[in-house]
Amino acid sequence: MRIVLLGAPGAGKGTQCKNIVAQYGLLHLSSGDILRAERAAGTELGTKAQSYMDSGALVPDEIIIEMMTEAIKKAPSAAFLLDGFPRTVNQAVELAESLAGNEMKIDFVLNLQIDDGVVAKRMTGRRSCPKCGAVYHIEHLKPKVEGLCDNDGAELVQRPDDCPEVVANRLKTYHQQTEPLVDYYRNNGTVYDFDADRSPDEIRASIFEKLDALVKT
Ligand code: AP5
Repeated sequence: MRIVLLGAPGAGKGTQCKNIVAQYGLLHLSSGDILRAERAAGTELGTKAQSYMDSGALVPDEIIIEMMTEAIKKAPSAAFLLDGFPRTVNQAVELAESLAGNEMKIDFVLNLQIDDGVVAKRMTGRRSCPKCGAVYHIEHLKPKVEGLCDNDGAELVQRPDDCPEVVANRLKTYHQQTEPLVDYYRNNGTVYDFDADRSPDEIRASIFEKLDALVKT
């Protein structure tokens, strides 16, 4: 099974990915996580991406397409969940071509739908672990010990692109450049919509229900 998870920044893609990959044995490939790891390692790619990410703009297609198609080729499993990629129609077209070269395709697109106002509140309360990438929220998903990661005890941090001005830009970028992707995939008849303004458990249950039904057919 190969899945693309779509949704605005803060829709809960990373949160739901954790559940989906564990349930269906998929590999989680997150373009945002890969970019943040490149930045933390101080690579040339990470340095190139930095200013775009910090301002809420998209990293240029040519950088992302090469990064993600390579990550897919090197992946130890051909069953994966893509999170944050593709994010433009051009990225989706290039992805489809690259997969077709290996006789693969995207089977399902899951689309998390949410209003901008809800997202803005979620993002300012998000805290992440710089070591393992685990994601928390100061109200909705608290760690066992305040400020510390449950997995490794590292001090939780706020992502630099989660400040209100950058969140506003990321939402604008999403509406202008990523929303058209939903129609692109809809034209292929592979999109399933989910109301993401519910509790994480409710969203997870609807996604599992849909995927279980799709896997059976
Ligand atoms: P990326 O890391 O992909 O960020 P994003 O899409 O903006 O998504 P987020 O990680 O912010 O949100 P999410 O939907 O995963 O939400 P989460 O589960 O964490 O990209 C970052 C940057 O990298 C981009 O701006 C761009 O510059 C660049 N980039 C990446 N990919 C690119 C590409 N393909 N092309 C070009 N540039 C690219 O949840 C958010 C918070 O809400 C958390 O605190 C969580 O605990 C909480 N929460 C989650 N679900 C719920 C719920 N149901 N109820 C209440 N709280 C919830």
